[in-house]
Amino acid sequence: MTNLKQAILQGIPSELPEKKKKNPNVSHAPRRKDILNKEEKQLAIRNALRYFPEHMHAVLASEFAEELKTYGRVYMYRFMPNYEIIARNLENFPHKSKQAAAIQLMISNNLDSAIAQHPEELITYGGNGAVFQNWAQYLLCMQYLAQMTDEQTLVMYSGHPMGLFPSHKDAPRVVITNGMMIPNYSKPDDFEKFNALGVTQYGQMTAGSFMYIGPQGIVHGTTITVLNAARKIDATAEDLSGKIFVTAGLGGMSGAQAKACVIAKGVCIVAEVNSQATYKRHEQGWVDEVYKDLDELLDRAIAARKNKEAVSIAYDGNIVDLWEKVVERNIHIEIGSDQTSLHNPWAGGYYPVGMSYEATNEMMVNNPEQFKKEVQKTLVRHTNAINTLSERGMYFFDYGNAFLLEASRAGADILNKKGDFKYPSYVQDIMGPMCFDYGFGPFRWVCASNDAKDLAITDKIACDVLEKIMQHSPTEIKLQMSDNINWIKAAGENKMVVGSQARILYADAEGRMKIAEAFNNAIADGTISAPVVLGRDHHDVSGTDSPYRETSNIYDGSQFTADMAIQNVLGDSFRGATWVSIHNGGGVGWGEVINGGFGMLLDGTKDADRRLKSMLFWDVNNGISRRSWARNKEANFAIQRAMQMNPDLKVTMPNSADDGLIDSLDL
Ligand SMILES: NC(=O)c1ccc[n+]([C@@H]2O[C@H](COP(=O)([O-])OP(=O)(O)OC[C@H]3O[C@@H](n4cnc5c(N)ncnc54)[C@H](O)[C@@H]3O)[C@@H](O)[C@H]2O)c1
Repeated sequence: MTNLKQAILQGIPSELPEKKKKNPNVSHAPRRKDILNKEEKQLAIRNALRYFPEHMHAVLASEFAEELKTYGRVYMYRFMPNYEIIARNLENFPHKSKQAAAIQLMISNNLDSAIAQHPEELITYGGNGAVFQNWAQYLLCMQYLAQMTDEQTLVMYSGHPMGLFPSHKDAPRVVITNGMMIPNYSKPDDFEKFNALGVTQYGQMTAGSFMYIGPQGIVHGTTITVLNAARKIDATAEDLSGKIFVTAGLGGMSGAQAKACVIAKGVCIVAEVNSQATYKRHEQGWVDEVYKDLDELLDRAIAARKNKEAVSIAYDGNIVDLWEKVVERNIHIEIGSDQTSLHNPWAGGYYPVGMSYEATNEMMVNNPEQFKKEVQKTLVRHTNAINTLSERGMYFFDYGNAFLLEASRAGADILNKKGDFKYPSYVQDIMGPMCFDYGFGPFRWVCASNDAKDLAITDKIACDVLEKIMQHSPTEIKLQMSDNINWIKAAGENKMVVGSQARILYADAEGRMKIAEAFNNAIADGTISAPVVLGRDHHDVSGTDSPYRETSNIYDGSQFTADMAIQNVLGDSFRGATWVSIHNGGGVGWGEVINGGFGMLLDGTKDADRRLKSMLFWDVNNGISRRSWARNKEANFAIQRAMQMNPDLKVTMPNSADDGLIDSLDL
């Protein structure tokens, strides 16, 4: 047995391992809020010690107390494994169940130090998107996955592996809940408190559900968004060429913006306040050029627009300085947005202007009240600049990061006369009506051989399937189909794989089912050398209830309910998902969203064929039926098509009431 297998099977070591130093070459999470009183701190240490035998407690208690004091959380750095955590061929992971080995692969990818934002704090992206709360949970979870059979299910409570429970081969191998709270305890400080106690975590979307595939996962969605934004403001535009898109953020997801814009043939200016993140993206080739001088940067962008050059340009500084300079120089910007982490405004998601990065991190911890004031003052200046440029003709949209929400909470001039936000969210204007309502969403897969050759074969299979479907696609979805076909054709040469051999491809229910079926057949006949993991982002048709993002184009009042997301994960779990997850928070913030996802292993068997057909059909059409019931006409069209394709589907359809009749009522 390899050392890796032995180490995973060992779980929590029986003898105390050597104390470990933090790696200075990786990015570390900012110090978290010191929110617990003395008794609560004692409880946090008691909770952490639960994972270890008593003979280790004397050493660990003071060490964990020190971590709590220094970092605001107990990460248990001493227990970081000695082996490299990276995606590998699933046969390299110890297992009795191939499904469980595939989950080990996916966890390893989420924690790979080349991929994860703060790998040693087990954060994959979004500042606080955690895979686990501490290293003991990681060790235990990997051990359980290595030991389990296809007749057991691993139950995960916010990173904590509760244990293996007897089940059956059609049940999910893992059921994950992250951040589920009694609704009255879902305010941001509740998260800080219960996370510091070690009893909950913020799983974001694909972090705590083991489905992150690096920024590629979001490049495709961002490409679709900016392409359609360009078409929205210019009916003659095929793409973004000759247009400037200004935004902020070169982090986990936001890092995709620069690349997506170049793929869409535009000029992207992106501000990033954390120099480490800026230069990491530059080295990785995700952003082409970096400037510290705003005048030089803007001159370069204007020249690129004139020459219809596709280029991405980073500003190593604060977005508000950039916007104010654009206003001062009266430069026309076609499209603007923002992807700072405003879902997490008080703990490092958004940096106030006029202060150094280091000074801001200090203030966040030592003077949180002043920090909050600085953030809010900055948000007001940020909004003022955007308002001025929008009055001069810029199209601005919220990118699902809670910018509009937090700007309004900061008292910025962001509401119109009716009391609504002045600007649409990208889902209201673009992703909702053009993609989600038709069932198009971020379908993805990972080749469990970890072999690039397999990925190239899957790309070709997926492309062939979509081209065949497109021959009979109705005109309503032809543009989406052709964007997705163009994407998959160029995916290999765009070289977006970081970590696991993964691909994202927006597809509707028919596309997802037919691609999955073709993969399963190709695994059965040996064309693809090993199983394939299917999944998706939670940012999809059915998985997420989020009133300011995924469900912001629902107008029947139900955007504040979470029945769809809960129904979705329940339905996926008994239709054959290999693992399911449901989260509070993700994207727009704790208490603001419920989102769920799944993973499914295709192994070329008849069982896999049965499961994929049953589960993928539900996983898309659940959301379309809800969107149709909300009277969204595109969803109404799509669900009627789905009912024609499968006569066992019978969905309750809405009747429309006459506007005049409603207006005439004495209410
Ligand atoms: N890409 C998408 O399609 C998409 C979709 C939905 C939501 N989002 C949202 O976008 C946000 C960003 O996600 P992420 O994973 O990239 O988070 P992240 O925390 O990894 O990155 C955000 C980046 O913004 C930078 N930043 C913060 N304040 C800044 C400022 N004032 N000026 C310049 N840079 C600043 C941070 O340093 C950080 O690198 C999240 O709120 C996420 O939910 C993205």
